Amino acid sequence: MHYQENHSLNPHLKTSNLPVRDPVAVVGAGLIGRAWAIVFARAGHPVRLHDMDAGTMADSHAYIEARLQELAGHGLLDDSPEVVLARIRIEPSLVDALRDVVLVQENIRETVEAKTAMFSQLDALAPPDAVLASSTSWLPASTFTAGLPGRGRCLVGHPVNPPYLVPLVELCPAPWTDAAAMARAHALYSAAGQVPVTLTREIHGFLLNRVQAAVLDECFRLFEEGFANAEDIDKVLKDGLALRWSFMGPFETIDLNAPEGVVDYSARYGAQNKKAMADRQPFQWSEATLKKVDAERRKDLPIADIGTRSAWRDRRLMALAAHKRQAPAS
Ligand SMILES: NC(=O)c1ccc[n+]([C@@H]2O[C@H](COP(=O)([O-])OP(=O)(O)OC[C@H]3O[C@@H](n4cnc5c(N)ncnc54)[C@H](O)[C@@H]3O)[C@@H](O)[C@H]2O)c1
Repeated sequence: MHYQENHSLNPHLKTSNLPVRDPVAVVGAGLIGRAWAIVFARAGHPVRLHDMDAGTMADSHAYIEARLQELAGHGLLDDSPEVVLARIRIEPSLVDALRDVVLVQENIRETVEAKTAMFSQLDALAPPDAVLASSTSWLPASTFTAGLPGRGRCLVGHPVNPPYLVPLVELCPAPWTDAAAMARAHALYSAAGQVPVTLTREIHGFLLNRVQAAVLDECFRLFEEGFANAEDIDKVLKDGLALRWSFMGPFETIDLNAPEGVVDYSARYGAQNKKAMADRQPFQWSEATLKKVDAERRKDLPIADIGTRSAWRDRRLMALAAHKRQAPAS
């Protein structure tokens, strides 16, 4: 295996604390692909990272190296950054990237045409028992796998950015996805330290983007109607709801907010909740409102500083991930 080959090439690398795992291919080495490479390599998988663009592949190496140093600094790696990095092979040939893999994680651009062409190649080239998972944020697998002989092993494995800090993966089957492929994907992601959730059937936006869309919709609406400024609406989440939501969901939250649980919560507050939502109109993403929110954001954060602020966000997420690792939910 390449993992062992890499180690035999460099006798100074410390040995791993983890069991050797089966190889995984990560196809598309942009923002999400390179992040997936970290997830799988961190868990002990030899990773073949492929992109059609040589420059992107070259950049991804330095990017991954820097992220691994940061993760190690927050106590989020079981092995040294060098050991984890040595598991990742940048692979310019798709054929070689797919050899002997148990999972292909596809992360190319978000169009049905691109995904259809890629899945056709993946199905033809990957070992027949490998799971073929797409990171797509919005496209149901049925839109790009319908004609494939191996469509039963194709599914969506939608991550949250960056998946090495935010562990949720949404597993969504096409109508023809085999239950066994879903189970294998679930086991692989779990063993890699992710938190898979399973949809029973396709729906636009899967789960996470639908919940986020509902929250965004209400936030924009409240802003548009002048009830509060954007900064204060953001505080409702970051200094209010999201503190609890970082370790329990809304169902568990309401279960604990009434002495007798969910039904009791509804008896006490259901009518008020219903009233609050009764006159809801979907936000139309009006340009005028978007420009106003943007203007408020730009006072706090010039566009040129978005990269710096994103790096700050990732450091905060690392500190939170380290805290959650030390204080597990159970
Ligand atoms: N960006 C996010 O926050 C996010 C979150 C979750 C899921 N996703 C999903 O992940 C996928 C990738 O998104 P991204 O943000 O990493 O995009 P990106 O533009 O950063 O990366 C896409 C990469 O795919 C490569 N590529 C395109 N066609 C290819 C081909 N035929 N063969 C090999 N490589 C090819 C490109 O060169 C590019 O490097 C999309 O489906 C997106 O919806 C993105």
